Amino acid sequence: MTKLQETLTIRNNMIKNRIVMAPMVTFSFHGDNGSYYGKQHIEHYAERAKGGAGLIIVQATSVFGAVDAKNMWSTDNSTSLKQIVSNCHAYGATIMLQLSCGDMDINQLSTAEINSMQIDMKQAAISACQIGFNGVEYHFAHGFTLCKFLDTSYNRRTDQYGGNATNRTRVLTELLPEIRNNTHEKFIIAVRMGEYLPRSQDGIEVAKIFEKSGVDLLHISFGMYPPEYAVPESFKCSSITYSGCKIKKEVNIPVIAVNEIRTEEQVRFLIENDYVDFAGIGRGMLSDPEFANHIIKSEPVNQCFGCKECLWFTNHTMCPSKNK
Ligand SMILES: Cc1cc2nc3c(=O)[nH]c(=O)nc-3n(C[C@H](O)[C@H](O)[C@H](O)COP(=O)(O)O)c2cc1C
Repeated sequence: MTKLQETLTIRNNMIKNRIVMAPMVTFSFHGDNGSYYGKQHIEHYAERAKGGAGLIIVQATSVFGAVDAKNMWSTDNSTSLKQIVSNCHAYGATIMLQLSCGDMDINQLSTAEINSMQIDMKQAAISACQIGFNGVEYHFAHGFTLCKFLDTSYNRRTDQYGGNATNRTRVLTELLPEIRNNTHEKFIIAVRMGEYLPRSQDGIEVAKIFEKSGVDLLHISFGMYPPEYAVPESFKCSSITYSGCKIKKEVNIPVIAVNEIRTEEQVRFLIENDYVDFAGIGRGMLSDPEFANHIIKSEPVNQCFGCKECLWFTNHTMCPSKNK
């Protein structure tokens, strides 16, 4: 058995291998009876769980409405999410939900507006736990609302949510004790973030604060922008993936690296060399639901074509990989 198939336990959840399905909104899916989630989503995630993914991170889901059980948190949506969870569990996958706070200008938010958002952030985690998810991942990446708090060049706030790294992470860290008090012992709390914020030392500092405050798992993608540095020639993956490897050296909690990891050689390079704990696979999981099993068994994968604009953003039925 290779390292790829070694289990890794986080808060007593045994993750069966080192391949993670990255969160990806399925833009052209539709729910049932006017709800957001439905049969298409249920099948989509079950196929990837059946395909061997050790950990599945379900797509960005807005926290707004969590307090009133509205929007993404309506009974119909929760029913579909429960089904997604139980199918993935039946195939042996660990499953988390990514929580997003949309795309607001944090410099324009009043402290009261931030506090109101935090109430939804907290409740969304508690609701995800009640639905049966093994954990949540807060979306602090890709330039969205939470990401803007972390970036030193973007965040110009002068209250307790701006300035030093302790303040820039506070939007989540101050919620953690209450989330822990209202979820069970095994509930995983993860953060997806960048390392280049906009300097590596900013990302490292933030990662260490999240670790210290009790975050269980870090998923390193990019922040406001992809990193601008060159990676060593011997490194077989992208600069964003390299970011994950840099953070891994600085913290003691597990780290997922992601971005353009498409081949068995790349997955094994990252995992067998202990550069990171998990390989996060995005589009590769869209083009091949069996990506994880294929890589583990050294079988060919149904390759993602790497289209300039991924068709899954607009109409997944046009994905050339799906149709080849
Ligand atoms: C259709 C699509 C939807 C995505 N949705 C999300 C999302 O909901 N949350 C997120 O953090 N990243 C999202 N991403 C980014 C992926 O999680 C991943 O980081 C990115 O695709 C790079 O990995 P890859 O090269 O393996 O695809 C999305 C990407 C795609 C292609």
